[in-house]
Amino acid sequence: MKKFDVASLRLQFPMLQRKMHGKPLIYFDSAATALKPKSVIDAIANFYQHQYGTVHRAIYDLSAVSTQMYEQTREKVRQFLNAANSTEIIFTKGTTDAINLVAHSFGKAFIKAGDEIIISEMEHHSNIVPWQILCENTGAILRIIPVCDRATLQIDKFRNLLNSRTKLVSISHVANATGTVNPIEQIIKMAHALGAKVMIDGAQAVQHIPVDVQGLDVDFYAFSGHKLYGPTGIGVLYGKEDLLNKMPPYQGGGDMIEHVTLEKTTYNRLPLKFEAGTPPIAQVSGLGAAIDYLNEIGLTHIAQWEHELYTYAEEKIRNIPKVRLIGDAPNKSSIITFVIEGVHPLDVGTLLDMQGIAIRTGHLCAQPTMQRFGITSACRVSLAFYNTKEEVDYFIKSLQNAILQLQPLL
Ligand SMILES: Cc1ncc(COP(=O)(O)O)c(C=O)c1O
Repeated sequence: MKKFDVASLRLQFPMLQRKMHGKPLIYFDSAATALKPKSVIDAIANFYQHQYGTVHRAIYDLSAVSTQMYEQTREKVRQFLNAANSTEIIFTKGTTDAINLVAHSFGKAFIKAGDEIIISEMEHHSNIVPWQILCENTGAILRIIPVCDRATLQIDKFRNLLNSRTKLVSISHVANATGTVNPIEQIIKMAHALGAKVMIDGAQAVQHIPVDVQGLDVDFYAFSGHKLYGPTGIGVLYGKEDLLNKMPPYQGGGDMIEHVTLEKTTYNRLPLKFEAGTPPIAQVSGLGAAIDYLNEIGLTHIAQWEHELYTYAEEKIRNIPKVRLIGDAPNKSSIITFVIEGVHPLDVGTLLDMQGIAIRTGHLCAQPTMQRFGITSACRVSLAFYNTKEEVDYFIKSLQNAILQLQPLL
């Protein structure tokens, strides 16, 4: 694409042509899941209609072509993350699955009673619960980096938490509830200095920020296809080859084996060792189309527009009386989370829905973040490159109307 033109980009998203409650859909929930461009939908439809076949198993042409597409997509993901080798790219169901894979498998290989794992106070539940389960199962201890009032990590506290018992640090690249972009380069360096490994939850990052896993020297990096304009049911775990080789399989089944007898099984090489069962082949084709699509637009163009849109919307929301922004980090992605005094977020979400506007309300899958800021739920606007300033204006007017309707009820 030569020129970044939102109007023509929007035409590529069929969902943006539909109405909600008779009004044009304004989709401000892309951090939960992003809409899909036609090229992604077409890739999946084309696979099912014309190219359907399994991978890695059969000799016939359909299977050979599917396998080629599957492995070419792995190579595409390798380039997208700048990994050294495509054997370091494991297809998973999503970020949650990728984190669980590491918690289970790295946990089995490397974590024992008394070891310590560090996460932060502003993680998505997916980057909290798997570590709690691991700690319950092993007797390891979960340590938490606290968060400042502006929703940035307290790095001095992190420094104090790190010690020779720290085996793993798992942190979000971008926090889903506050939009904070965390200083992961610094976190990785600090953790490595004490011999700890680092996992980065990139679910909210890869669609906004170019990621270079070799440059970062990160040990594990995870993301979800559906937040990257790709399909649901597909995600990626990047892991350094030497680490993945030392980790046992996460699940057993087809594809992950080398040789099976009734007495003993030997396992396949990377990455198939971690891909048990028939994989989500159609979803992989959709993920490949999504990466092509993003590469064509360019993440730099996307980030520029999203930042402009974010600044425009944030200022308008901030200036609405009785609004309190949750998270005010200097480095943020296009997420604006807020509460309004005397008004319940679910009521706001319901009234906005009647105007065709989709925002996220509730605990945002980050209950500890809610607790940190003394709330139980919030409203979240998350902007993507297909959003416009006109949509923001309509949203602001609708929000003001909703507040007027709701406040007299109190
Ligand atoms: C920061 C973060 N981590 C993890 C996840 C979980 O992703 P998924 O539900 O696609 O596995 C999300 C989803 O909202 C997220 O925002």
